Amino acid sequence: MHRRLIVPGVLAASLMLAIPASAADFTPGAPGIGDPYYPAYGNGGYDVSHYDLKIGYEPSTDLLKGTATILATTTQDLSRFDLDFLLDVSDVRVNGAEASFATSGQHELQITPAVPLAKGAPVTVVVRYSGVPSSKSAYGFSTWHRTPDGAVAADEPESAWWWYPSNDHPLDKATYDVSVSVPDGTQALSNGVLQSQSSKLGRTTFNWRENKPQATYLTTLAVGRFDITTATTAAGVPIVNAYSKDLADNYGAARASVERTGEVADWLSGYFGRYPFSALGGYVPNTTTGYALETQTRPFYSPKQFANGSNVSVIVHELAHQWYGDSVSVKGWKDIWLNEGFASYAQWLWSDSEGDGSTQQLADYVYASHPADDAFWTVKPGDPGPDHQFDDAVYDRGALALQALRNKIGDTAFFRILKGWPAAHAYGNAAVSDFEKYAEQVSGTPLAAFFDTWLFTAAKPATPAAAQLRIAAAGGAKHARPARPRSWAQIEQTHTVHKHTVHKHTIHKHTVHGH
Ligand code: ARG
Ligand code: ZN
Repeated sequence: MHRRLIVPGVLAASLMLAIPASAADFTPGAPGIGDPYYPAYGNGGYDVSHYDLKIGYEPSTDLLKGTATILATTTQDLSRFDLDFLLDVSDVRVNGAEASFATSGQHELQITPAVPLAKGAPVTVVVRYSGVPSSKSAYGFSTWHRTPDGAVAADEPESAWWWYPSNDHPLDKATYDVSVSVPDGTQALSNGVLQSQSSKLGRTTFNWRENKPQATYLTTLAVGRFDITTATTAAGVPIVNAYSKDLADNYGAARASVERTGEVADWLSGYFGRYPFSALGGYVPNTTTGYALETQTRPFYSPKQFANGSNVSVIVHELAHQWYGDSVSVKGWKDIWLNEGFASYAQWLWSDSEGDGSTQQLADYVYASHPADDAFWTVKPGDPGPDHQFDDAVYDRGALALQALRNKIGDTAFFRILKGWPAAHAYGNAAVSDFEKYAEQVSGTPLAAFFDTWLFTAAKPATPAAAQLRIAAAGGAKHARPARPRSWAQIEQTHTVHKHTVHKHTIHKHTVHGH
């Protein structure tokens, strides 16, 4: 997101456009932003600063109609550029003029403006579209979730393709206004603050605003029949929570968990620093999905997470992502440990403070639970590969690495890092290598070999490396398997339901390689 408008550049651009010979320098933007895990995700040649989405949705038919107004700045002389999208486009305008468009690849909308776009110029793109999202797929999968009373867009790393055109990669964050019209009696939820809500001719329009940079996959849409609760955190942040009216037996436990959102956010800010956004909440639609997602300011929770009773641990996980994942986002999808390792460690800290197992007991338990020949250790949390992005190892081995770091550098440096990192990269992007440098700088300790062992080696760290967990020092712990901490079931439940993702991305990878 670049807010700076370079006026001389705009003037130069108009001069250049007056000389036809220079048109040869205008080239198409790349169809991908350059992420090796997902070569076709995102696009090159421009940077979005704001999405204004005007949507109408019919819960009975799944018909979605939209107008997306996208404010961007070009980053090269552009003859053509792509957006990532799957619905049917009827009209595209670039800077007010009719543009031609075509589809290409699995999810590319290729736009050719009537006049080429000079580098560094502000550009406004208006896309009119409609479609039935549940009828669309890319790479053989869909992440659009229909519910009995509506639908939900919430998945990682893909969810935007089914409801709005975008530069679909965390590297290009933007602010959002999302306006959704639905039949009266139905609610539409998105991120941030509800600016207004009004009803006319049997339809209600909800206007949501997220005023801080937000990644495309963290932008959510949920339509359904919800009970809504509101509150304010101790720090003054407004909370809006929503519970599907159809949660049946899970309703009480869901509400008893998500209503703890303000308390949990205040507790997390003790470790991570000031809460980075202007709104908070959570929503539980009537989906059959297993996972939760840290959709910005307002996480998505599946009813399944509350099937055994209240589960504050999953709330801790998704809210921890608001600092680790949402405010500080990955530079590339290989950096996923910066999200999942830290959100999992937050659950360990919560377990510790609740007396449900200390972080050290959880580390001992995870370490002992996987013998050296377990495939668990073959996944490198620091670069797991697209097929293993959401594997247990990224979460559990990822949190283990943080306990090992804490034991190596001591509590003072460790907690200074936990709090300093979100401030150092607030509203931006960072890579695992940036974190390594930061941790070395704050702790004053060389950590290259340490991170290599814990994040980048496809094997179980053996003693003496494991001594960083103090396991070897703990006498009989080497032989006796540590007791399972009470918190473990919920920590495990936060991520064991991701298995379908492996299959999804296997299909995807093959398709990409087939090109
Ligand atoms: N970031 C989410 C979480 O840890 C995981 C989402 C995984 N995506 C999926 N399709 N399973 O809560
Ligand atoms: Zn997570």
